[in-house]
Parts: sequence; structure tokens; C-alpha cells
Amino acid sequence: MDVNDVKVKTREHELVPHRGFTLISGTHDPDDVDQIYNLEIRDSDVFVVTYPKSGTIWMQQILLLIQAKGDLAAIRQLDSRSNAELVPWIEMIGSRQAFITAPSPRLRVTHLLVHLMPAALSQKKGKVIYVARNPKDVLVSFFHFHKLAKILETPKDFNDFFEKFIRGDVVGCSWFEHIKTWYSHKDDMSMLFITYEEMIQNLRSAVERISAFLGEELSAEQLASVVKHSTFSNMKKIPQANYEQVSGELLSHQQGAFMRKGTIGDWKNHFTVAQNERFDELFHREMADTPLHFIWDIRDIE
Ligand code: PPS
Repeated sequence: MDVNDVKVKTREHELVPHRGFTLISGTHDPDDVDQIYNLEIRDSDVFVVTYPKSGTIWMQQILLLIQAKGDLAAIRQLDSRSNAELVPWIEMIGSRQAFITAPSPRLRVTHLLVHLMPAALSQKKGKVIYVARNPKDVLVSFFHFHKLAKILETPKDFNDFFEKFIRGDVVGCSWFEHIKTWYSHKDDMSMLFITYEEMIQNLRSAVERISAFLGEELSAEQLASVVKHSTFSNMKKIPQANYEQVSGELLSHQQGAFMRKGTIGDWKNHFTVAQNERFDELFHREMADTPLHFIWDIRDIE
């Protein structure tokens, strides 16, 4: 199933808690999701794992460009489908079946938690690229996305969504659980852990890391082309790469763009001082045992 095949009937899109993860009915089928664990994995399979709003679409574009050696026209000549169709969600209805017979390399994205993903990944089969983003910007991006996405409930206001996010009462799970569980498996898998902020700071070096991890050699010219076609401003101009092609039945395009701001620190335009203090306290409590650090302000890298 492609994103455009998701049927929009509000009552079909209830949040469905399932084994520690919240799915969306009509988009995900719990029985199908349970079968993902048993999938046979090829060494050439690549899974991009993200918490929502952490740069999934960005990584879809980068992977396709790396595979095409930076040739944007080649991706489109081969196939006029969108990036989300070329690098689909493994958890969407019908996607698992298509994965089984798809030719290599099978590039997929997912928001799932590790215990729902193919067990073979933990035997270092296939590759995982985990993209993490600072959770304050994730929260803001997720809030705006709820206003666009017709399959998600529109939040009453920012404060209402802030409370839901910090409780983990959103589609998927809590940001903290997602990052901590995946990070704790980074040494049992063939995993590249990269942050959205590193990609903003130095996209060229991020693309170099990603292509080296995938064992893809790029000439200096090819590398420059991958970088050029995956900047925020250029992706905004490519309908297949920016969700413009997604049906108006799924995304309220008049409410704003999926590619919204693409920066670090927009949370400062949304959080109150009190919300920020609460968030910092929660972050320090939850993340105390991890070595992970985030960049919270674009000025810290300029
Ligand atoms: S989703 O719905 O979970 O698939 O969303 P996801 O693609 O993970 O995240 C969307 C946010 O990523 C930003 N984005 C980018 N930022 C910088 N550069 C590039 N090239 C880029 N591509 C996507 C996108 O704008 C969303 O963030 P916000 O903060 O809302 O702008």
C-alpha cells in the first residue's frame, strides 16, 4: 500500500495500542506488523529508523540519490513515483508482502520500536540507519504535522499537544523510549547512528558517512550532487521528495507544507519558559544514563 492508498475516514483512523507501540487503524494492521519480526533479511537491506519528524523524508532522498550516484534525473527516469513509494514504510498495510519479493537493495523506513523489527537485524544482517533529532524540535514539527495530517487528530492547542508528547501519548511511542531502546542495540546491529543536527551542520560530511556505511563509493562530483539535491531548499522544489504529491485527502496542504522550516531551534518560538523548564527536567531524568547530546540552537553551529 502506498501513502495515497490510505483511506481517509476518520473513524477508521483510531490510535491502536499494540505491544508497546501505538499504530493507526486503516494504515497499519497489527497482525501484519507482528509478522515483520520473522522477515528474512538480506545483507543489502537498509532500514532507516526514525522517531516521527526526525528527518525520514530527508534520508529517503539521500539514500535514493546515493544509489543513483547523485543523478536526480535517473531516479525520476526509472520511476516517476514519490520517494515515499520508492523507499516505503515497512509497517504500512501491504508493505511487508511487497518487501518479501522486492529486488535488492530493499530500502525501507520505519518508526517501529526495535522489538517489532526483524529479529535478523540483531544478528547483524542488513543495515540500520537511526536518525535522531532533538526532541524539542521534534515536538514542534509533530504538532504542526498533526494539523496537516487528516489521519491524526488536530490538537486543541500547542499546550495540549505538549502534554501528550511528554506523556508519550502520541502515535508510535514516547521519544525517550524510542531513542533509548534503539540506542541500546547499536552494537548488536550494523547500525549508523546519526543526528538531524549533524546533517544540518555539515550535510556533505553526513552524506560521506552514510555512503561509507553503505559501502557506496562516490566521486567528489557525485557526492556534491547528492548534497545539492538533498538540501532543504532544493527538496522543497521536488514534488516527489516533499510530499506535495500526497493526496489532499490525506494532507491538508492549505494548512502548511510538510517541508516546513527544516532548522534547529524552532521550539524557541513555541515553548513557554515553564514548558521549557519542565522539558529540560524530564530530558535530564530520562537521558541521564545515555551519552547522547543534542544541538538545541542553530546559533550553536553557525
Ligand atoms: S515523518 O512524518 O515522520 O515522515 O516526518 P520526517 O520526514 O521524519 O520529518 C519531517 C521534518 O524534517 C524536515 N526536513 C528537512 N530539514 C532539513 N533539510 C532537509 N533537506 C529536510 N527534509 C525534511 C521537515 O521540514 C520537517 O521538519 P520541520 O521542523 O517541521 O520543518
